[in-house]
Amino acid sequence: MASMKMKAAVLQSQGPGDVVDYRSVTLDPPKANEVLVKIVATGLCRSDLHYARGLWKHPLPVVLGHEAAGVIEAVGPGVPKERLGEKVILSLAPGCGTCRFCALGQAYNCDAVVAAGLKGVMFDGTCRLHDDGGDIHHLALLAAWSEYAVVPSLSAVAVPDGTDLHTACLLGCGVASGLGSVINTAKVRPADSVAVFGCGGVGLNVIQGARLVSALPIIAVDRNPRKRDAAMHFGATHFVDASVEDPIEGVKRIVPDGVDFAFEVTGEVSTASTAYWTIRRGGTTVLVGQPPEGALAGFPPYEVSQFDQKILGSMLGSMRPFIDYPKILNLAAHGRVDLGGLVSETLSLRDVNDAMRKMEAGTINRVVFVP
Ligand code: APR
Ligand code: ZN
Ligand code: ZN
Repeated sequence: MASMKMKAAVLQSQGPGDVVDYRSVTLDPPKANEVLVKIVATGLCRSDLHYARGLWKHPLPVVLGHEAAGVIEAVGPGVPKERLGEKVILSLAPGCGTCRFCALGQAYNCDAVVAAGLKGVMFDGTCRLHDDGGDIHHLALLAAWSEYAVVPSLSAVAVPDGTDLHTACLLGCGVASGLGSVINTAKVRPADSVAVFGCGGVGLNVIQGARLVSALPIIAVDRNPRKRDAAMHFGATHFVDASVEDPIEGVKRIVPDGVDFAFEVTGEVSTASTAYWTIRRGGTTVLVGQPPEGALAGFPPYEVSQFDQKILGSMLGSMRPFIDYPKILNLAAHGRVDLGGLVSETLSLRDVNDAMRKMEAGTINRVVFVP
Protein backbone atom coordinates (compact mmCIF):
# COMPACT_ATOMS: atom_id res chain seq x y z
CA MET A 1 0.00 0.00 0.00
CA ALA A 2 1.28 3.45 -0.92
CA SER A 3 1.15 6.70 1.02
CA MET A 4 -2.07 8.64 0.56
CA LYS A 5 -3.08 12.27 0.34
CA MET A 6 -5.85 13.30 2.69
CA LYS A 7 -7.08 16.25 4.70
CA ALA A 8 -6.28 16.82 8.35
CA ALA A 9 -6.63 19.67 10.85
CA VAL A 10 -3.04 20.66 11.56
CA LEU A 11 -2.00 22.77 14.54
CA GLN A 12 0.78 24.98 13.18
CA SER A 13 1.47 27.17 16.21
CA GLN A 14 0.05 27.39 19.73
CA GLY A 15 -1.84 30.52 20.81
CA PRO A 16 -5.02 32.52 20.24
CA GLY A 17 -6.77 32.86 16.88
CA ASP A 18 -7.12 30.48 13.94
CA VAL A 19 -4.19 28.24 14.82
CA VAL A 20 -5.55 25.10 13.13
CA ASP A 21 -5.37 24.67 9.36
CA TYR A 22 -7.52 22.03 7.64
CA ARG A 23 -5.37 21.08 4.70
CA SER A 24 -3.85 18.35 2.57
CA VAL A 25 -1.19 16.12 4.17
CA THR A 26 0.43 12.78 3.37
CA LEU A 27 -0.34 9.68 5.44
CA ASP A 28 1.95 6.65 5.24
CA PRO A 29 0.50 3.12 5.31
CA PRO A 30 0.30 1.26 8.64
CA LYS A 31 3.52 -0.37 9.84
CA ALA A 32 3.73 -3.49 12.02
CA ASN A 33 0.86 -3.81 14.51
CA GLU A 34 -0.84 -0.68 13.18
CA VAL A 35 -4.15 -0.16 11.37
CA LEU A 36 -5.52 2.46 8.99
CA VAL A 37 -8.85 3.83 10.21
CA LYS A 38 -11.29 5.89 8.14
CA ILE A 39 -12.53 8.43 10.68
CA VAL A 40 -16.34 8.64 10.81
CA ALA A 41 -16.66 11.06 13.73
CA THR A 42 -14.18 12.87 15.94
CA GLY A 43 -14.86 15.06 18.98
CA LEU A 44 -13.50 18.30 20.41
CA CYS A 45 -12.29 17.99 24.02
CA ARG A 46 -10.98 20.72 26.27
CA SER A 47 -7.60 18.97 26.14
CA ASP A 48 -7.38 19.66 22.37
CA LEU A 49 -8.07 23.30 23.20
CA HIS A 50 -5.35 23.28 25.88
CA TYR A 51 -2.85 22.16 23.23
CA ALA A 52 -4.13 24.63 20.64
CA ARG A 53 -3.87 27.55 23.05
CA GLY A 54 -0.49 26.48 24.44
CA LEU A 55 -1.47 25.61 28.03
CA TRP A 56 0.30 22.33 27.37
CA LYS A 57 3.34 22.08 25.12
CA HIS A 58 3.49 19.67 22.18
CA PRO A 59 5.98 19.21 19.31
CA LEU A 60 4.65 21.07 16.24
CA PRO A 61 3.13 20.81 13.75
CA VAL A 62 0.67 18.27 15.13
CA VAL A 63 -2.70 16.83 14.19
CA LEU A 64 -4.87 16.98 17.33
CA GLY A 65 -8.05 14.97 18.02
CA HIS A 66 -8.24 12.07 20.46
CA GLU A 67 -11.96 11.22 20.73
CA ALA A 68 -12.86 9.38 17.55
CA ALA A 69 -14.45 6.36 15.94
CA GLY A 70 -14.22 4.86 12.48
CA VAL A 71 -13.74 1.78 10.34
CA ILE A 72 -10.54 -0.21 9.76
CA GLU A 73 -9.61 0.04 6.06
CA ALA A 74 -6.11 -1.48 6.05
CA VAL A 75 -3.94 -3.47 8.43
CA GLY A 76 -0.17 -3.52 8.85
CA PRO A 77 2.01 -6.62 9.27
CA GLY A 78 1.06 -8.67 12.30
CA VAL A 79 -2.58 -7.58 12.35
CA PRO A 80 -5.14 -10.22 11.28
CA LYS A 81 -6.89 -9.49 7.94
CA GLU A 82 -10.18 -10.32 9.70
CA ARG A 83 -10.02 -6.87 11.27
CA LEU A 84 -10.69 -5.17 7.90
CA GLY A 85 -14.08 -3.49 7.97
CA GLU A 86 -14.27 -3.57 11.76
CA LYS A 87 -16.04 -0.63 13.44
CA VAL A 88 -13.76 0.77 16.14
CA ILE A 89 -13.58 3.38 18.86
CA LEU A 90 -10.09 4.82 19.20
CA SER A 91 -8.49 4.60 22.62
CA LEU A 92 -5.71 7.00 23.56
CA ALA A 93 -4.21 4.41 25.87
CA PRO A 94 -3.39 1.41 23.68
CA GLY A 95 -0.66 0.08 25.97
CA CYS A 96 2.33 -1.96 24.85
CA GLY A 97 0.93 -5.07 26.52
CA THR A 98 4.22 -5.94 28.23
CA CYS A 99 5.19 -3.24 30.77
CA ARG A 100 4.22 -3.38 34.45
CA PHE A 101 1.50 -0.75 33.98
CA CYS A 102 -0.11 -2.75 31.20
CA ALA A 103 0.08 -5.82 33.45
CA LEU A 104 -1.75 -3.81 36.12
CA GLY A 105 -4.52 -2.86 33.66
CA GLN A 106 -3.32 0.77 33.60
CA ALA A 107 -2.56 1.14 29.89
CA TYR A 108 -2.98 4.91 30.28
CA ASN A 109 0.25 4.87 32.33
CA CYS A 110 2.07 2.49 29.93
CA ASP A 111 5.78 3.36 29.56
CA ALA A 112 5.59 3.22 25.76
CA VAL A 113 2.36 5.25 25.56
CA VAL A 114 3.74 8.00 27.79
CA ALA A 115 7.07 8.12 25.93
CA ALA A 116 5.48 8.24 22.46
CA GLY A 117 2.79 10.67 23.61
CA LEU A 118 5.32 13.21 24.90
CA LYS A 119 7.19 13.16 21.59
CA GLY A 120 4.04 13.06 19.44
CA VAL A 121 5.21 9.98 17.53
CA MET A 122 4.14 6.37 17.00
CA PHE A 123 5.56 3.49 19.11
CA ASP A 124 8.53 3.09 16.73
CA GLY A 125 9.51 6.73 17.26
CA THR A 126 8.52 7.91 13.77
CA CYS A 127 5.55 9.80 12.27
CA ARG A 128 3.15 8.49 9.62
CA LEU A 129 2.04 12.04 8.82
CA HIS A 130 4.08 14.51 6.80
CA ASP A 131 4.03 17.20 4.13
CA ASP A 132 6.63 19.04 2.05
CA GLY A 133 7.88 20.71 5.22
CA GLY A 134 8.67 17.41 6.97
CA ASP A 135 7.09 15.34 9.72
CA ILE A 136 3.72 16.18 11.28
CA HIS A 137 3.23 14.84 14.81
CA HIS A 138 0.42 12.66 16.14
CA LEU A 139 -1.50 13.61 19.27
CA ALA A 140 -1.77 10.60 21.60
CA LEU A 141 -0.83 8.14 18.81
CA LEU A 142 -4.22 9.01 17.24
CA ALA A 143 -4.16 12.37 15.39
CA ALA A 144 -7.87 11.91 14.84
CA TRP A 145 -8.85 15.33 13.44
CA SER A 146 -8.37 13.86 10.01
CA GLU A 147 -10.05 11.87 7.27
CA TYR A 148 -7.88 8.84 8.04
CA ALA A 149 -5.61 7.88 10.93
CA VAL A 150 -2.91 5.27 11.31
CA VAL A 151 -3.00 4.04 14.92
CA PRO A 152 -1.64 1.11 16.96
CA SER A 153 -3.93 -1.88 16.52
CA LEU A 154 -4.47 -1.87 20.30
CA SER A 155 -5.83 1.70 20.00
CA ALA A 156 -8.64 0.42 17.79
CA VAL A 157 -11.25 -1.14 20.06
CA ALA A 158 -13.83 -3.18 18.13
CA VAL A 159 -17.49 -2.35 18.74
CA PRO A 160 -20.69 -4.07 17.52
CA ASP A 161 -21.71 -3.45 13.90
CA GLY A 162 -24.88 -1.65 14.95
CA THR A 163 -22.99 1.03 16.93
CA ASP A 164 -23.68 4.65 15.95
CA LEU A 165 -20.13 5.95 15.64
CA HIS A 166 -21.28 9.59 15.62
CA THR A 167 -22.01 9.36 19.33
CA ALA A 168 -19.84 6.37 20.28
CA CYS A 169 -16.72 8.39 19.40
CA LEU A 170 -17.26 10.23 22.71
CA LEU A 171 -16.31 7.07 24.60
CA GLY A 172 -12.75 7.77 23.48
CA CYS A 173 -12.32 10.50 26.09
CA GLY A 174 -15.23 12.45 27.59
CA VAL A 175 -17.55 9.57 28.39
CA ALA A 176 -14.74 7.28 29.52
CA SER A 177 -13.17 9.95 31.72
CA GLY A 178 -16.45 10.98 33.30
CA LEU A 179 -18.16 7.65 33.90
CA GLY A 180 -14.89 5.96 34.81
CA SER A 181 -13.93 8.55 37.41
CA VAL A 182 -17.13 7.74 39.30
CA ILE A 183 -17.23 3.98 38.81
CA ASN A 184 -13.58 2.91 38.57
CA THR A 185 -11.55 5.62 40.31
CA ALA A 186 -13.85 6.76 43.12
CA LYS A 187 -16.11 3.67 43.32
CA VAL A 188 -19.11 5.78 44.36
CA ARG A 189 -21.88 3.76 46.02
CA PRO A 190 -25.67 4.18 46.05
CA ALA A 191 -26.82 7.20 48.12
CA ASP A 192 -23.29 8.63 48.40
CA SER A 193 -23.44 12.41 48.05
CA VAL A 194 -21.57 13.90 45.11
CA ALA A 195 -20.59 17.40 43.99
CA VAL A 196 -19.37 17.91 40.42
CA PHE A 197 -17.41 21.08 39.59
CA GLY A 198 -17.69 21.79 35.86
CA CYS A 199 -20.57 20.72 33.62
CA GLY A 200 -18.78 20.47 30.27
CA GLY A 201 -18.46 17.44 28.03
CA VAL A 202 -16.54 15.55 30.73
CA GLY A 203 -18.44 16.87 33.78
CA LEU A 204 -21.83 15.87 32.33
CA ASN A 205 -20.49 12.33 32.17
CA VAL A 206 -19.41 12.49 35.80
CA ILE A 207 -22.98 13.56 36.54
CA GLN A 208 -24.54 10.74 34.55
CA GLY A 209 -22.05 8.30 36.07
CA ALA A 210 -23.21 9.44 39.51
CA ARG A 211 -26.83 8.92 38.44
CA LEU A 212 -25.97 5.47 37.09
CA VAL A 213 -24.68 4.34 40.50
CA SER A 214 -27.61 6.05 42.29
CA ALA A 215 -25.58 8.71 44.06
CA LEU A 216 -27.76 11.15 46.00
CA PRO A 217 -27.74 14.09 46.00
CA ILE A 218 -25.82 14.97 42.84
CA ILE A 219 -24.86 18.63 43.08
CA ALA A 220 -23.66 20.20 39.83
CA VAL A 221 -21.56 23.36 40.09
CA ASP A 222 -20.69 25.66 37.19
CA ARG A 223 -19.96 29.35 36.85
CA ASN A 224 -21.92 29.34 33.59
CA PRO A 225 -25.66 29.39 34.41
CA ARG A 226 -26.45 28.11 30.90
CA LYS A 227 -25.11 24.72 32.01
CA ARG A 228 -28.00 24.19 34.41
CA ASP A 229 -30.40 22.51 31.96
CA ALA A 230 -27.81 20.05 30.67
CA ALA A 231 -26.65 19.24 34.21
CA MET A 232 -30.23 18.51 35.34
CA HIS A 233 -30.89 16.49 32.15
CA PHE A 234 -27.90 14.25 32.86
CA GLY A 235 -28.96 13.58 36.44
CA ALA A 236 -28.01 16.45 38.74
CA THR A 237 -30.48 16.89 41.59
CA HIS A 238 -29.22 20.43 42.36
CA PHE A 239 -27.36 23.14 40.47
CA VAL A 240 -25.09 25.67 42.18
CA ASP A 241 -24.46 28.72 40.01
CA ALA A 242 -20.91 29.72 40.97
CA SER A 243 -21.36 33.07 39.21
CA VAL A 244 -23.83 34.23 41.86
CA GLU A 245 -23.01 32.10 44.92
CA ASP A 246 -19.85 30.98 46.67
CA PRO A 247 -19.62 27.37 45.43
CA ILE A 248 -18.42 25.97 48.78
CA GLU A 249 -21.34 27.58 50.61
CA GLY A 250 -23.63 26.46 47.79
CA VAL A 251 -22.70 22.81 48.23
CA LYS A 252 -22.81 23.01 52.06
CA ARG A 253 -26.24 24.61 51.90
CA ILE A 254 -27.41 21.27 50.45
CA VAL A 255 -25.11 18.89 52.40
CA PRO A 256 -24.01 20.82 55.52
CA ASP A 257 -21.34 18.34 56.69
CA GLY A 258 -19.78 18.14 53.24
CA VAL A 259 -20.19 15.62 50.46
CA ASP A 260 -18.77 12.11 50.26
CA PHE A 261 -17.17 12.84 46.88
CA ALA A 262 -16.26 16.08 45.09
CA PHE A 263 -15.15 15.88 41.46
CA GLU A 264 -13.02 18.62 39.88
CA VAL A 265 -13.89 18.66 36.17
CA THR A 266 -13.26 22.26 35.09
CA GLY A 267 -9.54 22.02 34.42
CA GLU A 268 -9.03 25.21 36.48
CA VAL A 269 -6.33 25.08 39.16
CA SER A 270 -8.35 26.95 41.78
CA THR A 271 -11.34 24.60 41.57
CA ALA A 272 -9.21 21.70 42.80
CA SER A 273 -9.01 23.21 46.26
CA THR A 274 -12.55 24.61 46.04
CA ALA A 275 -13.78 21.05 45.45
CA TYR A 276 -11.66 19.82 48.36
CA TRP A 277 -13.32 22.28 50.78
CA THR A 278 -16.73 20.77 50.04
CA ILE A 279 -15.94 17.20 51.20
CA ARG A 280 -16.82 15.77 54.61
CA ARG A 281 -14.39 14.28 57.10
CA GLY A 282 -13.18 11.07 55.46
CA GLY A 283 -14.47 12.28 52.09
CA THR A 284 -12.75 12.07 48.74
CA THR A 285 -11.74 14.70 46.18
CA VAL A 286 -11.33 13.35 42.65
CA LEU A 287 -9.25 15.37 40.19
CA VAL A 288 -10.47 14.72 36.64
CA GLY A 289 -9.87 18.08 34.96
CA GLN A 290 -6.37 18.90 33.82
CA PRO A 291 -4.97 22.38 34.48
CA PRO A 292 -1.88 23.90 32.80
CA GLU A 293 1.33 21.93 33.24
CA GLY A 294 3.30 22.85 36.35
CA ALA A 295 0.35 24.39 38.21
CA LEU A 296 0.16 23.70 41.96
CA ALA A 297 -3.02 23.46 44.03
CA GLY A 298 -3.37 24.15 47.76
CA PHE A 299 -4.61 21.56 50.25
CA PRO A 300 -4.37 21.52 54.05
CA PRO A 301 -2.26 18.41 54.77
CA TYR A 302 -3.19 18.50 58.47
CA GLU A 303 -6.91 18.20 57.73
CA VAL A 304 -6.38 15.61 54.99
CA SER A 305 -4.49 13.31 57.38
CA GLN A 306 -6.40 14.22 60.55
CA PHE A 307 -9.75 13.53 58.91
CA ASP A 308 -8.64 10.58 56.76
CA GLN A 309 -9.52 12.33 53.53
CA LYS A 310 -8.49 11.18 50.08
CA ILE A 311 -7.36 13.10 47.00
CA LEU A 312 -7.46 10.91 43.90
CA GLY A 313 -6.30 11.59 40.34
CA SER A 314 -8.33 10.03 37.56
CA MET A 315 -6.80 9.51 34.12
CA LEU A 316 -9.29 8.42 31.46
CA GLY A 317 -11.54 7.25 34.25
CA SER A 318 -9.02 4.49 35.12
CA MET A 319 -10.59 2.69 32.14
CA ARG A 320 -9.67 -0.56 30.51
CA PRO A 321 -11.20 0.16 27.08
CA PHE A 322 -11.57 -3.47 25.95
CA ILE A 323 -13.60 -4.21 29.07
CA ASP A 324 -15.36 -0.90 29.64
CA TYR A 325 -16.33 0.33 26.15
CA PRO A 326 -18.64 -2.64 25.42
CA LYS A 327 -20.25 -2.21 28.84
CA ILE A 328 -20.91 1.50 28.26
CA LEU A 329 -22.33 0.84 24.78
CA ASN A 330 -24.61 -1.78 26.29
CA LEU A 331 -25.77 0.70 28.95
CA ALA A 332 -26.36 3.30 26.20
CA ALA A 333 -28.34 0.79 24.12
CA HIS A 334 -30.61 0.26 27.13
CA GLY A 335 -31.07 3.97 27.79
CA ARG A 336 -29.01 3.96 30.99
CA VAL A 337 -26.32 6.24 29.57
CA ASP A 338 -27.19 9.16 27.23
CA LEU A 339 -24.68 9.63 24.43
CA GLY A 340 -26.81 11.52 21.88
CA GLY A 341 -27.68 14.27 24.36
CA LEU A 342 -24.00 15.13 24.72
CA VAL A 343 -23.68 16.24 21.09
CA SER A 344 -24.65 19.90 20.75
CA GLU A 345 -23.56 20.21 17.15
CA THR A 346 -22.05 18.20 14.30
CA LEU A 347 -19.63 20.22 12.18
CA SER A 348 -17.05 19.79 9.44
CA LEU A 349 -13.38 19.69 10.44
CA ARG A 350 -13.10 22.87 8.36
CA ASP A 351 -14.90 24.58 11.28
CA VAL A 352 -12.49 23.51 14.00
CA ASN A 353 -11.35 27.05 14.88
CA ASP A 354 -14.96 28.22 15.23
CA ALA A 355 -15.77 25.17 17.34
CA MET A 356 -12.89 25.94 19.71
CA ARG A 357 -14.23 29.48 20.15
CA LYS A 358 -17.67 28.04 20.96
CA MET A 359 -16.10 25.83 23.62
CA GLU A 360 -14.35 28.88 25.08
CA ALA A 361 -17.66 30.77 25.04
CA GLY A 362 -19.28 27.89 26.94
CA THR A 363 -22.19 27.42 24.53
CA ILE A 364 -21.67 23.70 23.76
CA ASN A 365 -21.62 20.34 25.52
CA ARG A 366 -19.68 18.46 22.86
CA VAL A 367 -19.04 19.23 19.19
CA VAL A 368 -18.52 16.24 16.92
CA PHE A 369 -16.75 16.68 13.59
CA VAL A 370 -17.48 14.65 10.52
CA PRO A 371 -14.38 14.83 8.31
N1 APR B 1 -16.00 27.31 38.46
C1 APR B 1 -17.06 26.62 37.99
N2 APR B 1 -17.13 26.15 36.72
C2 APR B 1 -16.11 26.39 35.91
C3 APR B 1 -14.95 27.11 36.34
C4 APR B 1 -14.94 27.58 37.68
N3 APR B 1 -13.89 28.26 38.16
N4 APR B 1 -14.10 27.18 35.29
C5 APR B 1 -14.66 26.53 34.26
N5 APR B 1 -15.88 26.06 34.63
C6 APR B 1 -16.80 25.26 33.81
C7 APR B 1 -17.09 25.85 32.45
O1 APR B 1 -18.12 26.82 32.52
C8 APR B 1 -17.51 24.61 31.66
O2 APR B 1 -18.89 24.37 31.75
O3 APR B 1 -16.17 24.02 33.52
C9 APR B 1 -16.74 23.48 32.32
C10 APR B 1 -15.61 22.92 31.45
O4 APR B 1 -16.22 22.27 30.38
P1 APR B 1 -15.56 22.13 28.92
O5 APR B 1 -14.95 23.41 28.52
O6 APR B 1 -16.60 21.50 28.04
O7 APR B 1 -14.34 21.10 29.15
P2 APR B 1 -14.34 19.49 29.15
O8 APR B 1 -14.07 18.99 27.77
O9 APR B 1 -15.52 19.00 29.90
O10 APR B 1 -13.02 19.21 29.97
C11 APR B 1 -12.91 19.56 31.35
O11 APR B 1 -11.43 17.72 31.78
O12 APR B 1 -10.28 16.21 30.44
C12 APR B 1 -10.22 17.40 31.11
O13 APR B 1 -8.63 18.66 29.84
C13 APR B 1 -9.97 18.57 30.20
O14 APR B 1 -9.35 19.97 31.98
C14 APR B 1 -10.39 19.69 31.09
C15 APR B 1 -11.56 19.13 31.86
ZN1 ZN C 1 2.79 -0.95 28.46
ZN1 ZN D 1 -10.05 14.51 26.07
